[in-house]
Amino acid sequence: MQVVVTGSSGRLGRSVCAGLAASRHQVIGVDRAPAGLDGIDERSIDLRDEQATARLLDETRPDAVVHLAGIAVPFSAPEREILVTNTTLAHTVLAAAAAVGVGRVLAASSPTVLGYGAPGWRAASVPLDETHPVAPANAYALSKVVIEETVRMFARTAPGAFGYFRPCYVVSPEEWAGAPTQQGHTIAERLADPALAAVSLFNYLDARDAATFVDAWLAAPAGVVDGEGFFVGAADALATRPVADLWRDVAPGLGEGADALVGTSPVFSIDKAARLLGWRPERDWRSELAAASPVLTTQQTESSRS
Ligand SMILES: NC(=O)c1ccc[n+]([C@@H]2O[C@H](COP(=O)([O-])OP(=O)(O)OC[C@H]3O[C@@H](n4cnc5c(N)ncnc54)[C@H](O)[C@@H]3O)[C@@H](O)[C@H]2O)c1
Repeated sequence: MQVVVTGSSGRLGRSVCAGLAASRHQVIGVDRAPAGLDGIDERSIDLRDEQATARLLDETRPDAVVHLAGIAVPFSAPEREILVTNTTLAHTVLAAAAAVGVGRVLAASSPTVLGYGAPGWRAASVPLDETHPVAPANAYALSKVVIEETVRMFARTAPGAFGYFRPCYVVSPEEWAGAPTQQGHTIAERLADPALAAVSLFNYLDARDAATFVDAWLAAPAGVVDGEGFFVGAADALATRPVADLWRDVAPGLGEGADALVGTSPVFSIDKAARLLGWRPERDWRSELAAASPVLTTQQTESSRS
């Protein structure tokens, strides 16, 4: 397939482009500035420019568009700017794709649509799955709810073409090796202090596993992806102790339902992606930290057993 990936210079986009190219897709990466990606046709476009975006898709006529571009971290810009930027980019890209009849269009949403972290928030049920009600509590989460509705709107006129996913806290390959994550601290610091990972309810996702998800989504039957959303995360929690032991201290919103979680099983269910797309993540924090920093991981694995 020829696939246009927006946000190709970003944390998620770089790995998605590389993974799709490795699966023999022909990838066109779009961002404000190129990242120098091997084997990727990179185009510099500001996606707020409606005409430039429409021109790109009209000229390239891709089989698929994967829309990742946007402001990716809550409160990293003024609230209004996050809302306007993310919703405008998504509508611009999805409308341009619809106008030329692109067969598959996948947009990035976020688990934050559920609203965890807001005062008084309580999980309706644990593990959290795609049936859980949304309750956005900041402009970033609200922008993602609007993006999910934008996907459903286009899905009504182009059945089988549009869908979205909710990637968990994305960890890029260099972040396992100690580069700062999107919140400024390292993954090792996030593991050592459960309060840091509790902000995202211990969820995480290796960016390369996001690429295999996108590949599986592109290959799935139209009826399976039509207007649908998927949580996409690792198969365990980013925690060295069982979440059932941690939640009262650092994630009270999970409520007593968290007691049902076994060991470090994830708070967010990825069963829908496994069941409908046959997708499973291949990486977890133990394997990736061990590969990046064997001494550190031995200590963390020991502490997770004690
Ligand atoms: N990183 C995560 O943990 C996470 C979790 C859930 C959802 N998401 C979503 O996944 C997507 C990608 O996240 P990321 O972590 O790679 O973010 P990132 O900030 O690393 O990358 C986003 C990219 O979008 C590009 N971009 C922004 N505005 C643009 C514009 N006007 N025109 C062209 N390009 C523009 C940026 O230049 C950047 O390269 C985002 O939509 C984000 O909200 C990310």
